[in-house]
Amino acid sequence: MRLVLIGPPGAGKGTQAEYLSERFLIPKISTGDLFRAHVGNESPLGLEAKQFMDTGQLVPDEVTIAMVEQRLDDPDAADGFLLDGFPRTISQAEALDGLLEPRGVKLDVVLELVVETDQVIRRLSGRRTCHGCGKIWHTEFDPTTVAGVCDRCGGELFQREDDRPETVTHRLDVYTKQTAPLINFYAAQGILVGVDAVGPVEDVTERAIGALRSFV
Ligand code: AP5
Repeated sequence: MRLVLIGPPGAGKGTQAEYLSERFLIPKISTGDLFRAHVGNESPLGLEAKQFMDTGQLVPDEVTIAMVEQRLDDPDAADGFLLDGFPRTISQAEALDGLLEPRGVKLDVVLELVVETDQVIRRLSGRRTCHGCGKIWHTEFDPTTVAGVCDRCGGELFQREDDRPETVTHRLDVYTKQTAPLINFYAAQGILVGVDAVGPVEDVTERAIGALRSFV
């Protein structure tokens, strides 16, 4: 399956991507995670991306598309993938089609996680991520046993730079203006499916698996 997850910041894309990639045995490709790894390594790409990420803006398309193209060439993506956070603009979506066409494949389905704005703001303000294994937690909705310490690997948790309230407002605005138009773009192609992403994480996963079943 070649799947794209779409939804506003904090909708739960990263959380669901982990479960869905396990369930469908496809690699999770998160452009946010790829950029954060480059930032952590202080690579030239990371230094360029950081200035956009810290202020909640999109990294320029040409940088992002080149990074995704390289990742799609990895052998594990040959038979399917789950894209989390890409595409995020109409031009990225068109570029993705252009990358898939010579490979003789196309997207099967775009899964939209539907959540209201007030809920995503609560989710982002309490999000904590593990430095060690990358697991996503929440201080209120999915807390660790010991505050600040990952239950899975014992790693230290951190709060993302771009989860500060003023940056979150800007990211939501960027989503509405630049990414939300993709919903109609994919609906017109008949490959969009939406699920209610409010409620316990495992319930959302079950709804997502149910919605994806007819595309497998
Ligand atoms: P990225 O990392 O993709 O951020 P995002 O799209 O803003 O999404 P988030 O990671 O903030 O949220 P999420 O939907 O994954 O939610 P999560 O599962 O963590 O991008 C970051 C930046 O990188 C961008 O701003 C941009 O600068 C750059 N970038 C990335 N891709 C790009 C691209 N294609 N083009 C250009 N630039 C790009 O969940 C959030 C919280 O909610 C967690 O704490 C979680 O535990 C909790 N939670 C999850 N599900 C539930 C639930 N059902 N109930 C209660 N709490 C829940």
